[in-house]
Amino acid sequence: MKNLIDSHGRSFRYLRLSVTDKCNFRCTYCLPDGYKSPEVAQDSELSVQEIKSICEGFSLLGFEKVRLTGGEPTIRKDLLGIVRSVAEIKKFQTIALSTNGHNLDRLAKPLREAGITAINVSLDSLDSSQFQSITGSKRFDSVRDGIETALDCGFASIKVNAVLLRDITDLEIPQFFEWVRTRPISVRFIELMKTGKNGNYFKKHHISCGEIQLELRKRGWKVKKRNDLGGPAVEYYHPDYKGTIGLIAPYSEDFCQTCNRLRVSARGNLRLCLFGEEDYSLRKHLIDRNSPVLVASAVRSLIERKPATHYLKEGKYGNTWNLASIGG
Ligand code: 5AD
Ligand code: SF4
Repeated sequence: MKNLIDSHGRSFRYLRLSVTDKCNFRCTYCLPDGYKSPEVAQDSELSVQEIKSICEGFSLLGFEKVRLTGGEPTIRKDLLGIVRSVAEIKKFQTIALSTNGHNLDRLAKPLREAGITAINVSLDSLDSSQFQSITGSKRFDSVRDGIETALDCGFASIKVNAVLLRDITDLEIPQFFEWVRTRPISVRFIELMKTGKNGNYFKKHHISCGEIQLELRKRGWKVKKRNDLGGPAVEYYHPDYKGTIGLIAPYSEDFCQTCNRLRVSARGNLRLCLFGEEDYSLRKHLIDRNSPVLVASAVRSLIERKPATHYLKEGKYGNTWNLASIGG
């Protein structure tokens, strides 16, 4: 089968699949009141078998990377089973997991053994009380220890995502730099994105990555060549540092040109763009042994609807109320 290419010439090999939209943190910019079950009954979350069939479908389209995301994926009791079944497909170079890290100290090793090859941990502060005020969680130590445990478990890559927040994360930039001096991790600063629910917070705390970028260049950091399967970060390296620094700037001009990923929600809906307006059910194709082929042909016919860009600059955010609903 030919690779999946959209009408803007971009090719897709990276699937981000949400396994749940529940989360046990209450990050100020995402779920400030914590996760609440929707009032109207919803379809159930995808089962292990459904997740496997969807991933097999994407593998038929030449996809080489899957990221399991959430919500918080580790809330699912059957997460290790999910990972094992995706690993059984044997077509993916990378099976990554995004987590808030609340249980990473305990889970790093079993996740690695089940088949996770790369881990992204969200961590917006290196200070325990600041961490608690952002996330509502007291599990700072588990997250920090979890990252250390993960470093010992042989993951191909460990990344830490920090949302760049005015008067919060920006005050800790020197500490993050110090951290990657001795640790082979990639710390990525993500510009805060406006969603359906965080408008006021966005006004108060959004800052662009521009200043960090200037600082990096001034201090001799160089841009790393982008990997085809990579995500949206521009990565910088420096000979005196074991780790790297990445910048994710969704409001920058060329952000969407290098888009190489598609998303599937925890209920099996294809989302062509993080800030897209529409969802397309893949679940309805999961009927028998032929499901992966049906999923692949559904995605192939839907891809031409993928928009050239998001319309964040125009203040639009599709139906993304918060990123917990589809994964960051
Ligand atoms: N803007 C930028 N990043 C966000 N995340 C969640 N909400 C936002 C937002 N509004 C990030 C989290 C985590 C992942 C789930 O997405 O920090 O890394
Ligand atoms: Fe925080 Fe991620 Fe949970 Fe949102 S989904 S509340 S960003 S940990």
